[in-house]
This record gives sequence, structure tokens and C-alpha cells, in this order.
Amino acid sequence: MVKIFPSILAANFANLEKDLKNVENNVDGFHMDIMDGRFVPNISFGFPVLESLRKITNKYFDTHLMIVEPDNYIERFSKVSDSITVHYEATTHLHRTISQIKKFDCEAGVSLNPHTPVSLLEEILPYLDKVLIMSVNPGFGGQKFIETTYNKIRKLKDMNSNVEIMIDGGVNPNNIDKLVKAGASSFVVGSAVFKTSDPNKAIKEMRDIL
Ligand code: DX5
Ligand code: ZN
Repeated sequence: MVKIFPSILAANFANLEKDLKNVENNVDGFHMDIMDGRFVPNISFGFPVLESLRKITNKYFDTHLMIVEPDNYIERFSKVSDSITVHYEATTHLHRTISQIKKFDCEAGVSLNPHTPVSLLEEILPYLDKVLIMSVNPGFGGQKFIETTYNKIRKLKDMNSNVEIMIDGGVNPNNIDKLVKAGASSFVVGSAVFKTSDPNKAIKEMRDIL
């Protein structure tokens, strides 16, 4: 079964509760994009927003840390997340970071920027629940999907791991089918859900294609 996680970055921040409640029965969870203005050239939101949202829904919270030195914040994010994903490019002692995430009872993921090869994950793969392949340069919603992503998914598949392969950036009804065929099973979808006139219809359309 393919999983869909709307990114709240594309939702209406003046009315997040309404946007989340509107789609919550049709999604597998929500993707939380945390940006620090250092790892990526943008600042999004942090603990107060996550803590407020945690109170209004029991859905799975998939937290994507686009921050430097993520180790300093794992414990606090674990209290408001079901899964924490850190960037390969932002960590020095990845095995230690992943162990910390597990210690705090969260699923653990590693995200790769478009230029980072999947082969670098060889030794850490057995410890991961998911790999988040960035199909845009992280930092902003609404960007164009990078076409070399398909090949990257195939290469990760060839590494013979059961890890969940999640795709983030520019996912929409036109590419989701090809992404599934390449081997991806989970999708972060921002604009193609929340920037449409009917988010539930958009989600259904993507599920129907598959
Ligand atoms: C980009 C974020 C994405 C983003 C996806 O840095 O990691 O999760 O919100 O948004 P869309 O689907 O609009 O590309
Ligand atoms: Zn993300």
C-alpha cells in the first residue's frame, strides 16, 4: 500500500487546524518540514507549532529536520513526532544520531539531497526505517521535480534493503505512478494537495492512479 503524507508547509498557516482536519481521514500522516535558515535558505516553524498540532490529531507525524546539528533537538522533537528524519549532509556521526532517535522511540530516517548518492547509505541502511529521497533541493515547497530521481530510487532498490523509500518534492498526479514503478512507496505531497481547490479530491486522484 502506497502512503501519502501531505506537507503542512503548503497549508494555510493562519488556519492549520482546518486544513489538517479536512484531510486527516484520507492521509497516512502529516509531513513536518523544519528549516533553520542555516542548512537550508529558509525558516519554517518549530516546537510551538508542532506541539499545538499534536493536540488536535493523532495522525502519524513525519518530521523532516532540515537543520544543522540535529542531535541537539532530537529529544524535543521525539516528544511531538512518530518519525524523525535527518539529513545525511547535516550529520557527522550518523549512526549515533539514528541510535538517539530510536532511543526516544521514534522511527528513524535519513534524507539525501539531490546530489548525494544512495551508495553512501550502505553501512547505515540496516538501522533505518526510511530513506527520504529529495526530488527538489530542500528549502521550499512548490519546486519542479528533478527527473534523475527515478534512477536514484532504482539504485536504492538494488541495494536489497526493505527500507521504506519516501520521495519529497514536486510529487504530483503526473509522476506518482512512475515513482511507484521505480520502487518508492511513500510520498510527501505539499502543493499538489494543499494548493489545489479540493485537497481530498487531489489525494483521491493520486490513490486512484495507483
Ligand atoms: C522541501 C520540503 C518538502 C516540500 C514539498 O524542502 O522538504 O516537504 O514541502 O512540497 P511540494 O510538494 O510542494 O514540492
Ligand atoms: Zn520535507
